[in-house]
Amino acid sequence: MNKKKTILFLPGDGIGPEVSYSAKSILESINEIYNLDFIIEEALVGGSAYDQTGVPLPEETLNAARKSDAILLGAVGGPKWDDLDYQYRPERALLGLRSELDLFANFRPAILSEYLTASSSLKSEKVENLDLLIIRELTGGIYFGEPRGRKEDKKEAFNTMIYSHEEIERIGRVAFEAAQKRNKNLCSVDKANVLEVSVLWREVITDLSKNYPDVNLSHMLVDNAAMQLVREPKQFDVIVTGNLFGDILSDIAAMMTGSIGMLPSASINSENKGMFEPVHGSAPDIAGQGLANPLAAILSVAMMLRYSFGLEEPASKIEEAIEKVLKEGYRTNDLEGPEDMKLNTDQMSQKILENLRG
Ligand code: IPM
Ligand code: MG
Repeated sequence: MNKKKTILFLPGDGIGPEVSYSAKSILESINEIYNLDFIIEEALVGGSAYDQTGVPLPEETLNAARKSDAILLGAVGGPKWDDLDYQYRPERALLGLRSELDLFANFRPAILSEYLTASSSLKSEKVENLDLLIIRELTGGIYFGEPRGRKEDKKEAFNTMIYSHEEIERIGRVAFEAAQKRNKNLCSVDKANVLEVSVLWREVITDLSKNYPDVNLSHMLVDNAAMQLVREPKQFDVIVTGNLFGDILSDIAAMMTGSIGMLPSASINSENKGMFEPVHGSAPDIAGQGLANPLAAILSVAMMLRYSFGLEEPASKIEEAIEKVLKEGYRTNDLEGPEDMKLNTDQMSQKILENLRG
């Protein structure tokens, strides 16, 4: 690469700092091995930003995010901030970054490592070699729809699920293109038997499919999709869906991969600028004890290299190093395995580093 790239690290709350420091050490090592000239910066986000500055997404952080070429986020939130007013909650930082940077396309792959089949909550034959991709629309739908609020008497509250033709079309394109690069099966998930907004969703996706004759498109209602994911997950290749349904379905898919501690995600805008984060939350109950699995954060670095910078080789190198360590039998606390093979957060990242350098 010819130009220096800035990566902004936002460690956040709970286990966020632990897993992002692990991820940072991996990125630093890749930076060295491949001579990449990445500049790594850090800023405050979430509850820890609120504690220090009074807001969960300080202006300084947002500006740094705008200027950076990619962002790696740990996790935000925790019981300490649960009673804060809506606009001060740590989650607002996450939603603010998504909408301010227009990160509308959220990629949540659920890939089960062949060495973790036993850790899945489903029977081995149901999940062996599972590799599905959920593409979640991330900046629209009921998460951001207006109007929202409380009625004056405070006894009624409301949100609005709204999608425009354009919003559906742009996430649709991303999904069709992703399916073209995979097994060419796209399942669009909605609630078109009840919701007006889903009827439009289905119309737009169906129209769009004419431009992708090589992709086999199907539609599924969200309640059925939830059931099918648990019944026969390998029937899916790529799933595309709106913000709320994608939030729920991606947590279901996560459990199939053995642990939510294994799942990375990418949120991308139309210029391929992205924010990368583990799917798991801040897990305050295990924070600071070295129990967190850093692999989702480390896999998020691999996604960053691939999606934002087109660096396929270092991305695969990270993924291979992880597979190797899992093959050798090493596990973090969240993954099933013998006690004498259990590693803490730092030990796991050290193992990955040894493999990268080796
Ligand atoms: C996720 C999370 C977030 C979401 C929360 C923390 C706001 O659950 O990224 O899936 O609902 O989008
Ligand atoms: Mg979620």
